[in-house]
Amino acid sequence: MGNLVVVGTQWGDEGKGKVVDLLSEQADIIVRFQGGHNAGHTLVVGSTTYKLSLLPSGIIRDDKITVIGNGVVLDPWKLLEEINLIKSYGVNIDKSRLMIAENTPLIMPYHRELDQAREAEASKKIGTTGRGIGPAYEDKVGRRSIRISDLRNEVILRERLEVALKHHNKLRNYPIKIDWLIDQLMQIKDEVVQYCMPVAEYLNEQTDKNILFEGAQGSMLDVDFGTYPYVTSSNTLAGMASLGSGVAHNKIPNVLGITKAYTTRVGEGPMTTELFDEVGDHLAIVGKEKGTVTGRDRRCGWFDAPQVRKTCMLNGVTSIALMKIDVLDELEEIKIFNKEYITMPGWKTSTIGITKFEDLPIEAKEYIAKIEELVGVEVGLISTGPERDQTIFKKDAFF
Ligand code: IMP
Ligand code: MG
Repeated sequence: MGNLVVVGTQWGDEGKGKVVDLLSEQADIIVRFQGGHNAGHTLVVGSTTYKLSLLPSGIIRDDKITVIGNGVVLDPWKLLEEINLIKSYGVNIDKSRLMIAENTPLIMPYHRELDQAREAEASKKIGTTGRGIGPAYEDKVGRRSIRISDLRNEVILRERLEVALKHHNKLRNYPIKIDWLIDQLMQIKDEVVQYCMPVAEYLNEQTDKNILFEGAQGSMLDVDFGTYPYVTSSNTLAGMASLGSGVAHNKIPNVLGITKAYTTRVGEGPMTTELFDEVGDHLAIVGKEKGTVTGRDRRCGWFDAPQVRKTCMLNGVTSIALMKIDVLDELEEIKIFNKEYITMPGWKTSTIGITKFEDLPIEAKEYIAKIEELVGVEVGLISTGPERDQTIFKKDAFF
């Protein structure tokens, strides 16, 4: 039995949703540990496409326990919306299979409004998702968060909100009235608080279980090691799985780095291998590169080997899942950035749905081998399409 953290090694949208969904079959518990509903995870199961932004991907498997850890910032209204959406697909969600850490900070309406107002006014935009993620993390560090457990007691809630609103009302054109906000929160309180649990204690006790920690965003959006200031406001690296859930770091030995066979990025900021030509358009169209959350077009480019080498180092990646290799199928030649560009021949044949490594065209095998060589980590899984079964397992055990 072991624990595994799954992280994106680029700018997010590498395909974590699919891999977490696949590997959650071998897991007992799936934990989100950072980010909020800025994340977008697309899961394709048969004819149903699930788009999750807050709930752990394991939620769609009825026999799994899912956990939202304290490292997440949680919009309680969005939580209930997403729960209702997923329930409408016939999935059972109750407190026996969804737990939220008591010390999880909440995203409030004033966080979202501040996020959007700043983006609108900024001379240099970050291109945030406008969900209030950044301001909510600021309040956490500023010691003025409302945490989920504060909803349990109206006296405490009022005290905490007085502190928060004293700060926020100074930043606003019109003040938020505390009674109005308490009333709003009290309306959803019972529904939200039922999931509230001492998650760290619970998780550390599950020594005979496989726990899968599901990262959101990507390593290049990490607030410390990403392309600052064009980053998200949380640590997205594997180490955060520990701090964002309370599971001791030495209990999470396996790190799977989800890596797209090319590069994409949403929002502003530097991107070394960005393409502005028809190859970039081709990747965007074939790869359906539109943001799950914002619907924005993703910027596309070639694989950036030094970048992934570095993020694998930072995360301690033990195995790579190479995603969307089929998006490269039609290309005449394929480039990899490594100080200068290496050009490799394309395979110009469909790899969609291939499930055995042997069945890949030789050029695709060479491309994968080159990535392994340049990054210095072995590829343990290859994705050849969005569906669960469009996957090559080079390695069968990830926990
Ligand atoms: P924020 O996290 O909404 O503050 O946005 C900060 C930056 O992170 C922006 O460039 C967003 O586009 C990017 N970002 C946030 N979440 C995701 C994600 O799940 N995938 C890809 N990019 C994201
Ligand atoms: Mg995404």
